[in-house]
Parts: sequence; structure tokens; C-alpha cells
Amino acid sequence: MLEIKKQIALKIIESVAGFNPDAAQNMVLADVCNALEYPPDPNMGDLAFPCFKLSRILRSSPVQIAQNILSRFSCVYVEKAENVNGYLNLFLSLSALAPKVGEILEKGDEYGRPRIGEGKTVVLDYSSPNVAKPFHIGHLGTTVIGHSIKMIHEFAGYKCVGINYLGDWGTQFGKLILAYRMWGSREQVEQGGIDELVSLYVRINLAIEEEKKAAADAGQEVDPVNSLAAKARMEFHKMEQGDAENLSIWKWFIQISLKEYEKTYRQLGITFESYEGESSVTDKMPAQVQKLRDLNLLKLDQGASIVDLSEYNMPPFLILKSDGSTLYATRDIAAAVYRKEKYHFDKSIYVTSAQQSQHFAQLFKVLELMGYEWYNELVHVPYGTVSLEGAKLATRTGNVVLLRDLFAAAIDKVKAVMKEKNTELENEDEVAEAVGVGAVVFYYLSNNRIKDIDFVMEEALSFDGNTGPYVQYTYARCCSVLRKVPEIKPQMYRITEPEEKDLVMVLLKFEEKVRQALNDYEPSVIARYILDVATAFNRFYHNCQILSTEDEKVKLSRLSLVSATRTVLGSAFGLICLKKTEKI
Ligand code: ARG
Repeated sequence: MLEIKKQIALKIIESVAGFNPDAAQNMVLADVCNALEYPPDPNMGDLAFPCFKLSRILRSSPVQIAQNILSRFSCVYVEKAENVNGYLNLFLSLSALAPKVGEILEKGDEYGRPRIGEGKTVVLDYSSPNVAKPFHIGHLGTTVIGHSIKMIHEFAGYKCVGINYLGDWGTQFGKLILAYRMWGSREQVEQGGIDELVSLYVRINLAIEEEKKAAADAGQEVDPVNSLAAKARMEFHKMEQGDAENLSIWKWFIQISLKEYEKTYRQLGITFESYEGESSVTDKMPAQVQKLRDLNLLKLDQGASIVDLSEYNMPPFLILKSDGSTLYATRDIAAAVYRKEKYHFDKSIYVTSAQQSQHFAQLFKVLELMGYEWYNELVHVPYGTVSLEGAKLATRTGNVVLLRDLFAAAIDKVKAVMKEKNTELENEDEVAEAVGVGAVVFYYLSNNRIKDIDFVMEEALSFDGNTGPYVQYTYARCCSVLRKVPEIKPQMYRITEPEEKDLVMVLLKFEEKVRQALNDYEPSVIARYILDVATAFNRFYHNCQILSTEDEKVKLSRLSLVSATRTVLGSAFGLICLKKTEKI
């Protein structure tokens, strides 16, 4: 549609030149393109050009301007134009639209790509779970929004580096090592995997809490050397000093955790270019802390070192604790600098829950104060919280719902439906996984990312609603029609029915939607677009005969439209972690 808009915009400017050459000289093609709207009602045309803004420059009424343009306007794409209340309403010509279907087929996977990222590199930090802690539904957002934003950038030609910045450093590892030594065993952890690590972690935290409470009840402080808390700190301290035994246990814990995450990533079809977590930047922190000190940015505050940000209405950024140990913030400074040096990014994106918005605002400000000119290439993409309808899903760790369990529950439900419907597919398990996981992902991504959402499994899995199963089923329907015919050859395209035209119009909007999703870091634009395509396709499918059409030319033309729909849906699925299901 962008090409059509451009041709129309050129003709509008040409028409203006016919009655006011000076004004036409100053009209910018891109602005005129952007001003072209999609009217809410088909009676108002397929596109409309509002003349209100021109009114000031041309010193006449919008209605008069529309009339002046109209009397000079002609464009191959436009069959009819009308002047209604200062709008130039444009009705597109079916014979000019129809060949666009051929263009989609010709371009295939390339169709809809905005070529705006070529030669540019984007680094994306997403998913980034904390090792040995549960991978719960709170991580759904960063994982699927992050990956979608990556795929959208890749589609636009950017070179993308996906970084899974694992939370693999910090005092929690001291606790975990201590717990393992007291209560764990190698066999148990090998067998129980991440669940075993999580339960050790939960147990040590409880014990530390109890110890604290007991001391408080007795009116004392916890023992500074022999308490569990002190011993845990000691274990982490040993790690920081390079203690070989602790480091090897720590590495093993990471491997155990990764094995579990990999399963979830595989189900989602997600891969990362880098797994460099927080631990990878520990040796890069001293230089940055020194730089802060040299720049006089560090201030002592009750023994801790902070960057005072009160001037910018933000709380202080905590760089070193009073015992000199580093923090999440310190590591993020070092990581940002390291990534710039390593990848020379044009943009560096962080996807986390909105709870960390303050942290990133502080981080970016501190990097600016440190004189890093690229601070404005850093982008934080926040998202809202997820809750689960009631607490219907069982959890093993008490109060959180694991992503793994959520996916498993969805897959089970899909399997039950498939059994009921007696679908008999060779790859039933694969399809059930694609549809079950797809349902969760699609439900989540069809909302604006910043919105808090309540997850309702029943709704997500419905085949009739605006759901993942519905759009995946639509894709399978396209495939099923196309399986029945030999390859479609290029031919004359024609549009005869309104449903065909509506479908073509929707397919032609793909690139605009990709651009919008890219600009706003908003995968929901793609999810909702997929729904528009599915709805338009199903109307066409129900109202227009395809395979049973007598007229061979009409039949071929409709088959091309099915094929173009499959192409666009397939590309769009790839942008939001939805698997393409050829048969359901
Ligand atoms: N591991 C962190 C968490 O789970 C998220 C890390 C986000 N990325 C970053 N560079 N801070 O909360």
C-alpha cells in the first residue's frame, strides 16, 4: 500500500501545482503519504486525504481545496474520487489493485520487508532469567516481547544480537552453595535439575529468615561469623576471590538451569547469539567505577558509594555497598560499555517489566553523565504484569506459576481437543505443542505490552475467539486449499467480489504494520494485524467459491489470493513466535 500511497501523493502534489505552484513546491512527498488515512467506513472510500492542514498555506477553505485538487486529479490506482467535507475520498481501482497479489507471490518471504535496518546493528537484552530461581510467568513478557522485537528488526534488515543476560552472579549463589553443602547431593541435583536448586534456595532463605527472627526475638543480632547469612556471604566472597571449588559448583548450577531454560526456548523457537550473563562483566567493573570516581560522580552515603541524581528527580544510583561489593547497577554500567565496544551497536534494547523502568532511566542518565555519547542509543522497553485467573495451575514452588507448567497445561488441553475431534495427524505431539504454546503467546501478545493482563486459559485456547488457535487454523486452511492444486503459475489477477478486495487491501498493509511495530516496539500491532488478515481471509473463504469455481481464470486468481495470504500470515507468524501449522 505504501507504493500506492506514494503514487497518489505524487498526483495530489501535481494537482496542487495546477492551481498553486508555489505551495506545491513546498509540499513534502512523505508528509502527504503519511496524511493519507484509511476511512472508518467503506462508503468514504479506501483512502482519504484531509485538506485541513493545507487550508492555512493555500488560504482557502478545505472544501474549496479538495474541489481544486479533485478537478485536476487523476491516478491509475484511483477509480473514483469525491470531495466530502474537506476530505478527498479515494476509491481504488480493482484492476490496478489486482496485480499487487502477483507482487506478493513474486516477493514471497521478502514481501513486506521495510529495508531500513541494512548495515545497522541492534543489541537486544531479553529473557535474562536469574539462574537457579524459577522461570515463571513473569518472564513470559521479556522472553516473547523481546524475541518478537528482535524478529521484527531482523525482518527490517538489522543485524541483531540477542543477549540472554543471565542473572548468574550475586549473593544468591553463596546461599545456594551453602545449602547444597548442608542438604544437597550431586545425584539429587542431577536428577531433580532446576527444581532441586529452587527448593534448596527456598529452604536456605527460610532458614536464614528463621535465624534472623530467633535472634530478634532474643533481642540480639545474628552471629556475624557463624550464622547462615554470614556463611552464605563468605561462600560468595570466595567465588569473587576465584575459589576453584565454589566456581566449579556455580558453573554446574548454571548448566543445570540452562538445560531447563533451553526446553522452553525450544518450544518457543527462540535462540540467542550470546549467553553472557552478569558474571561476564565482573572484571570490567573496576574500570567503570574508577571512571565514575575520576569524574567526581561518586558520593559517599552512609558508607555506600552512589551517584546522586536528585538534580534529575531520580533517586541515587547505588554503585558500591558499604562493604565495597558491586551491585546490579554496577554490572549494568559495565555491560553497556562492553556491548558498545564489542558490537558497535546503533541501538541497544532492554526488555524488562515496568518495575525496572526507574533502574533504566537511572542507568541511561549515569552513562550520559559519564560522557558516553551513545547514551541516547539505549532503549528500555517495559511491559506490564501478568496474573493468572485464580490459582488454578499447580505449582511446585508454592507461590509462582512456572512458564513450563503453563505451557504443559496448554498443550494437554489441546491434545484433549484433538482426541475429541479425532484429528489423526502423524505429528500430533508437534502440532499440539505448536498450538498450545502458540495460544499462550498469542493471547499475551495481542495486548498492548504495557497493559497488565490476566491470563485466562479457556479464552486463550478457544478456536472461535481472536486467538492463536484461530489464526493457526486459518493458516492451516490456506495450506489445505493449496495442497489440492499444482503450483500456481503467474497469470492475470482479477478482483470481482468485495471480500476479495477487502482481503487484498489487508494484505497490502503488511509493511506499514511492520514499520509501526518497529517504531513503537509493539508486537501487538502484528498480532492484531494477523487477526485482521485471518478475519478477511475467512470471510473470503466462506463467501467466494475457490476450488469449485467453474471459470478457470477466477479460480486461479482466487488460489493466488490464498497463496498470498499464506505468505503474509507465515511471515507475520515468524515475527511473533508463532509456529506455522500446515495441518491442524
Ligand atoms: N535478571 C534480571 C531479572 O530477572 C533482568 C535483567 C535485565 N537486563 C539487564 N541488563 N538489567 O530481573
